[in-house]
Amino acid sequence: MYVCLCHGVSDKKIKKLVLNEGITDVRGIKKCTALGSQCGKCVKQAKSIINETIEIQYQQAS
Ligand code: FES
Repeated sequence: MYVCLCHGVSDKKIKKLVLNEGITDVRGIKKCTALGSQCGKCVKQAKSIINETIEIQYQQAS
C-alpha cells in the first residue's frame, strides 16, 4: 500500500527502514525518501506506521 502517493513510498518501505535502519521518526524517513515533501498528507499515516512497527518490534523482543 502506498502511504506517500506523491513519491510512491509504501508502508513496506517505511517498515523496512524502521526495522533495518533503526529509524524512529518521520524525519528519519524523510532523509531516506522524499516522503512528505510535496503535499504532506502522508506524514500522519507515516507516523502511525512507524509507531506500530516499533511497538510490534518491542513486543516481539520482550
Ligand atoms: S502524499 Fe506524501 S507528499 Fe503527498
